[in-house]
Amino acid sequence: MIGRLNHVAIAVRDLAAATAVYRDTLGAKVTAPMPQPEHGVTVVFVELPNTKIEFLEPLGAASPIAKFLERNPDGGIHHLCYEVDDILAARDKLKAEGARVLGDGNPKTGAHGKPVLFLHPKDFLGTLTELEQV
Ligand code: CO
Repeated sequence: MIGRLNHVAIAVRDLAAATAVYRDTLGAKVTAPMPQPEHGVTVVFVELPNTKIEFLEPLGAASPIAKFLERNPDGGIHHLCYEVDDILAARDKLKAEGARVLGDGNPKTGAHGKPVLFLHPKDFLGTLTELEQV
């Protein structure tokens, strides 16, 4: 059901510092910061030949990654995102198998303007897992 790894998301406290590490030290192609107030994050994409790394910096007081950064003050891998062809069919199959879909269970528009869902980390090896319809 899942296809390509779309991105690995890393939560960071300081986007500028994270960008410098990947752009200057690792020599990667890095986008400009993109504030996404509806998701409570500012995002930078690192564009690799085969996938993307997504830096997430908290935006606003109620950011969904604030608690994660309290537990992981140096930052850390926050979630993995896999591509699916049909997100509603994927959701229904996973729910039928007992997996928990976060939120109200309906896809939201993600950072790439495509429908996304998040799956409970306890059902997926302790890893928050995002599905994106491509
Ligand atoms: Co993501």
